[in-house]
Amino acid sequence: MDITGGLGELTAQVIPPSRPIPTLADDVRELLLDSPRSLPPKYLYDEAGSDLFDQICRTKEYYVTRTEDALLTEVVGNVAATVRPATVFEFGSGMSRKTPQIIDACCQVGPLATYAAFDISPDALRAGGEGLRQSHPEMSVQLFVGDYTAGLDALPVPEGPRLFLFLGGTIGNFTEPEGIRFLRDLAAKMEPGDFLLMGADRIKDRQVLHDAYNDSEGLTAAFNQNVLRVLNARLGADFEPEAFRHDAVYSEQNAQIEMRLVAMQPQTVTFGILDEQIRFARGESILTEVSRKFSRDSLERLVRSAGFKLRRHYTTDDEYFSLVLAEIGNFDERL
Ligand code: SAH
Ligand code: TRP
Repeated sequence: MDITGGLGELTAQVIPPSRPIPTLADDVRELLLDSPRSLPPKYLYDEAGSDLFDQICRTKEYYVTRTEDALLTEVVGNVAATVRPATVFEFGSGMSRKTPQIIDACCQVGPLATYAAFDISPDALRAGGEGLRQSHPEMSVQLFVGDYTAGLDALPVPEGPRLFLFLGGTIGNFTEPEGIRFLRDLAAKMEPGDFLLMGADRIKDRQVLHDAYNDSEGLTAAFNQNVLRVLNARLGADFEPEAFRHDAVYSEQNAQIEMRLVAMQPQTVTFGILDEQIRFARGESILTEVSRKFSRDSLERLVRSAGFKLRRHYTTDDEYFSLVLAEIGNFDERL
């Protein structure tokens, strides 16, 4: 019997990488065994990590989500009227919590045929997709699971005009060259008439930034430590997550939050299926994610250097957060 009321299960299509990417084992050998130690942030977003992130978004300290949401409310009418999309395609959609108001605004100006979403977390994708399918039964919902840093050649793009979304300030989780590469990959999927709406967090008072990544409920700390559980589960490692302290500091020099796990005492970690050991000295740390903050200029420069033409730059009165609406430049500019 179909218990979903005849709708069937929403399934996510797996998108294979279009260039060779390291496996988790490669990343551990290259980045975690190296000095200074680090891990790619994508491993933070397993099912438990995605759930913790969703809770972080509701803390009083994490202004990012509610600021972007409020800015979207102000601008979606203008965005929808400019783009008039047949497809809304969201990258790093998570649970698609900010998406409904964008979809609704697009439906007001014309028929929206498709909502597509691409994320590394299949559980978050399905949760978000299911909600939108129920509220918009006439719209096709297409879910794609994969790594958006691995190239986008295998990613299907539904009919245009398309509005691509990259929200949450997630662009700040890339280094500058990684960010440019991702945006170029995205630009290569776009045609004239398509637009990108991207959210980016702004440089602001350091205490506000610090608190946002050190919430009083300890959810960001749990989110950070969870990556060690991912390594335990996937590589047979024996990390004790509680033996590592959450550390998130704002580096004014690099204009970024740097999130680390710091060993609180000397310890040795064994990787069951890698035949590797790591000895941590007390105070030794692993860089688990950065979150870059932008000035008006640095954000516009990034968008332009990836080959986009800036159409609009929306921001809040306090300039806490920006949304940029961009289209692809002409061919020469893209080279
Ligand atoms: N857009 C949401 C979620 C932002 S958190 C919001 O604004 O609140 C970042 C999202 O990007 C998560 O859903 C995570 O699963 C996804 N993500 C992180 N790294 C990824 C990667 N390499 N490829 C695809 N998705 C990734
Ligand atoms: N995209 C989010 C951000 O940059 C991801 C995030 C949430 C995060 N909490 C974090 C990144 C803590 C680093 C540290 O804000």
